Amino acid sequence: MIDLSGKNILIIGASSGIGEEVAYTTSIQGANVILVARRKEKLHNVIEKINSHKKACYVFDVSDIDGINSMIKTIVSEQGKLDGMVYTAGISDGDVPLKYLNNKRLLDTFTTNYFGFVECVRQVTMKNMYNDGLRIVAVSSNAARFGDKAHIAYSASKAAMDASVRCMAKELSNKHVYLNSVAPSMVKTQMYIDYLKMNGYEEESDSSLSNRQYLGIIEPKDVAYAITFLLSEEARMITGVTMPVDGGFSTSC
Ligand SMILES: NC(=O)c1ccc[n+]([C@@H]2O[C@H](COP(=O)([O-])OP(=O)(O)OC[C@H]3O[C@@H](n4cnc5c(N)ncnc54)[C@H](OP(=O)(O)O)[C@@H]3O)[C@@H](O)[C@H]2O)c1
Repeated sequence: MIDLSGKNILIIGASSGIGEEVAYTTSIQGANVILVARRKEKLHNVIEKINSHKKACYVFDVSDIDGINSMIKTIVSEQGKLDGMVYTAGISDGDVPLKYLNNKRLLDTFTTNYFGFVECVRQVTMKNMYNDGLRIVAVSSNAARFGDKAHIAYSASKAAMDASVRCMAKELSNKHVYLNSVAPSMVKTQMYIDYLKMNGYEEESDSSLSNRQYLGIIEPKDVAYAITFLLSEEARMITGVTMPVDGGFSTSC
């Protein structure tokens, strides 16, 4: 049922992992995809695999908060007004116990995961930047709800994202803008592989995780399907929510 034909969907953080999969899934549903990330070569690899006639990519670092305004203006002037934006750019600086945490580490994580997100939403919802019914989806994390030692900056940045989604969705509803987030638990991407390595886990033997995430390890496409739904007309009664995509994690803690 989902049809994104002719819709301009901007995907920020599209060079790998979940964002890459969102590019494939939405283009299969007919979207014109506009991809943003820092790694040019990776972006080009993704673009080459997309069959859609209209596709584009832009190299940009979202930690350049002041540059987001001109990045969005350039994209809209070259590709047309936006119908959707997915913000999946994110970093995790791994396990940082409180005693090693400092303001710079907090700021670095918040700049990419949160400040960049709010500024992108601010800029795409300015006059003449979007078509009626704009849909925005942010990639949060179950870490926003569930505490874990040494994950202070990452968890807090995602909790800030979810709180802002609730506030901005209400504020933007009179402009017919819809805004939601998805909250995955462990997804099989580079971020997950790095996490296992850092904690000394073998993929198959990570039983503590599989006990909680009892449906198994999530593939990037599982998250991309949920995002594609939230970008569609079929989700027209959903705004301001955080949708878990967590293999049962949040029901078993
Ligand atoms: N994997 C998991 O288990 C998991 C679980 C819950 C939530 N998440 C969230 O899912 C999102 C995607 O992560 P992933 O697992 O797909 O990992 P990933 O493969 O590392 O993807 C991260 C994406 O963000 C982009 N990015 C990072 N910093 C950026 C910056 N400053 N400017 C522009 N783009 C930037 C990266 O591209 P460049 O490096 O090319 O810039 C890449 O395309 C993240 O927000 C993460 O927190 C992941």
